[in-house]
Amino acid sequence: MTIQENHSLKTYNTFGLDVKARYFVIVKSVKELQEVVRSDAADHDLMILGGGSNMLLTKDVNKLVILNQIEGFEVVEENDHTVVVKVGGGENWHEFVLKCVRRDLGGVENLSLIPGTVGAAPIQNIGAYGVELKDVFERLKAINLESGAIEIFESEDCQFGYRDSIFKRALKGKYAIVQVYFRLQKEASVNISYGAITNTLEARNIENPTIQDVSDAVIAIRQSKLPDPRVLGNSGSFFKNPEIPAAQFEALQKRFSNIVHYPLPNGNIKVPAGWLIEQCGWKGKRVGNTGAYEKQALVLVNYGEATGEEVWQLAQDIAGSVEAKFGIRIVPEVNIL
Ligand code: EPU
Repeated sequence: MTIQENHSLKTYNTFGLDVKARYFVIVKSVKELQEVVRSDAADHDLMILGGGSNMLLTKDVNKLVILNQIEGFEVVEENDHTVVVKVGGGENWHEFVLKCVRRDLGGVENLSLIPGTVGAAPIQNIGAYGVELKDVFERLKAINLESGAIEIFESEDCQFGYRDSIFKRALKGKYAIVQVYFRLQKEASVNISYGAITNTLEARNIENPTIQDVSDAVIAIRQSKLPDPRVLGNSGSFFKNPEIPAAQFEALQKRFSNIVHYPLPNGNIKVPAGWLIEQCGWKGKRVGNTGAYEKQALVLVNYGEATGEEVWQLAQDIAGSVEAKFGIRIVPEVNIL
């Protein structure tokens, strides 16, 4: 375990932004992480890095950046219907999903191909195609970055919400998630409620889909409209989908009769940010080294040499024009650092 100085983070963030970490260290076990946290090195501010897939680095990071590469996949509990697996926080999320699918363990197949690591997934309660991490979450173990102690968080403790958890709010920057426990189904019933999945399965003439079929369909859908970060730097959806009160929505619908919308159980209406951004003319538009992706306007991309500041400027311009046209304030889903 060596602490490096002024280390480039270009290959450690999916936007591919070339900023430097003042100090940088890779940890491969809980023990190593505890050692770092309890050493003099921890006098610096600490930042835990997973897959770097949900952040926009706008400047050099004047901190000790700790890259979590803690591995592991272990069945720790099993009954007739379910299995609990304990997974290392540094494991690649998609590899974890594929492992579950291969073992016929259901619950995470709709979350195929989401970039990032297992340890980062609870922080923003990742979700896609009708499933969220919280639906399969059992508990997690995290290291308190002040004391180095291991603490356990049950689901209620995490306060999961739409792309949200306590680790994005009150406990932001205070813990490193080292292990996540998931409860998976042995004879899973698949969730194909999301239109794009139904359409893909129909086109493939699959009537009784297995979790493998659902995973394959999700991979195909994502590949068809989301850019591969290894080819074109990006951080997935840049903004959250806004939710607005029904009265505000009805007033908007009078002006924009084709507005895409989804009623929510709480009476509010969700309007896809991608639609709002496209209506403002940003889809496929390139501004210098950055732009809104041609197939999904909610995804901002780095065409190669963009700086984080440039992407952030674009994001603010986009949010400004959405607010001017629709009176809706869209907020970033990614962490701006
Ligand atoms: N739309 C447009 N133009 C666009 C993009 C979208 O008009 O350029 C409209 C379309 O009507 C489309 C609707 O928006 O039907 C919804 O689009 P999509 O199905 O692509 O989903 P999304 O709401 O843009 C969310 C998540 C994604 C997740 C998908 C599928 C958020 C912020 N994003 O996107 O998550 O994969 O649903 O469940 O909730 C991520 O968080 O990084 C991410 C990719």
